[in-house]
Amino acid sequence: MTTTATTEQADVVIIGAGAAGLMAAATAGHRGRRVLLLEHANKPGKKILMSGGTRCNFTNLNAGPQHFTSRNPHFCKSALSRYTPWDFLDLVQRHGVAYKEKAAGQLFCATSAKDILKLLLAECDSAGVDLRLNTEVHGIRQHDGFMLDTSAGRVHCDRLVIATGGLSIPRMGAGPFGYQVAEQFGLKVLPTRAGLVPFTLHPEDKEWLAPLSGISCDASVSAGGRTFAEPILITHRGLSGPAMLQASSFWEPGTAVTVNWLPGCTDVENALQQQRTSQPSSTLEQWLRKQLPQRLADAFVTRHDWTGPLQHYTAKRLADVAQMLTQWTFKPAGTEGYRTAEVTLGGVDTDGISSKTFEAKTVPGLHFIGEVLDVTGQLGGFNFQWAWASGQAAGKAV
Ligand code: FDA
Repeated sequence: MTTTATTEQADVVIIGAGAAGLMAAATAGHRGRRVLLLEHANKPGKKILMSGGTRCNFTNLNAGPQHFTSRNPHFCKSALSRYTPWDFLDLVQRHGVAYKEKAAGQLFCATSAKDILKLLLAECDSAGVDLRLNTEVHGIRQHDGFMLDTSAGRVHCDRLVIATGGLSIPRMGAGPFGYQVAEQFGLKVLPTRAGLVPFTLHPEDKEWLAPLSGISCDASVSAGGRTFAEPILITHRGLSGPAMLQASSFWEPGTAVTVNWLPGCTDVENALQQQRTSQPSSTLEQWLRKQLPQRLADAFVTRHDWTGPLQHYTAKRLADVAQMLTQWTFKPAGTEGYRTAEVTLGGVDTDGISSKTFEAKTVPGLHFIGEVLDVTGQLGGFNFQWAWASGQAAGKAV
């Protein structure tokens, strides 16, 4: 194929105007590169707008490699150390965006996630980035760089950046495009699955939990060797809330999840024995209602027939009660899947990508950034920090 007069020329084409793509575009544009940012949706940054309950948890001041899952846990280190949460915070402050710290290190917009998108679009604008919405890429070929067939015509570029994200929330424009490009160019794509996603339940667990829908409490949830002490939420379909979402990213289908419903009590068995000694005629129900939301406490009591005064409980029975409350296990039926997942685990194998430039080792000029890569952050602003850091690194390299 030859480059004709009808072929548009750009130094850099970035596909996907989400968090990573916008950051990469602004960075490359500020370096004087002619950047074309192609987005198939009708608006850029839709996930930014819906993130953090529309307040966008845009970074986490404690972000480090330990907050990311990848087959190569070292891959994320370089970019994260070169563009830190403080760098993004500096940008936020320069744009006068009001923010607040919720849980430790988690920074949210004080007003609206729109402020973060506005900031990124302003950066792209001042960097001369040409953002094209409603643009589909039909085909990509290597041709002294890359030749793209798009719904808006043919484009040639020296550098191509894939920033199309993962598979979560298809109605927001998510799709497998980035993985298909990787495979087209001979790069490996690791199996994907939904992460940071609510669990669904088998009928026997749903039967007693679904009527408790809406109840939220602190718990400590373990799956795949990881434990998260955060709130959980019982829904009419299953179990959600931060601790369950976190655990879902480490859960393997078919395995069990363990819940400690009383994470604030270090020795529940001992606490129950003391209660039996000090108030022998009190009931388990009375004690449990002080520890858990009342409806949840009552559901445990009914389900396990924990009736009668504590003085009638043997030490063994109290130990069983303690075990049930601190090591309750269930096997999820599955998860809600990509429909509601915040992230996609797996993706483009980082073995084939430079951790410095995000360029494919075997395809000069082709870069992958953000969630399309096999790098997934925990809940708490880490995924955006990865988008900013990888976007910055690629933006400086292209
Ligand atoms: P992202 O998905 O943001 O962008 C990809 C872009 O590519 C999209 O605009 C998409 O339309 C476009 N695209 C896809 N295919 C294309 C194609 N074929 N052609 C052209 N364009 C294409 N993280 C966090 O740190 N803090 C938070 O508060 C939250 N909250 C949150 C809430 C919810 C509901 C979700 C779903 C996710 C979060 N996240 C989050 C995760 C975070 O949103 C996510 O990790 C980043 O947006 C990933 O950034 P990317 O730019 O890689 O993908």
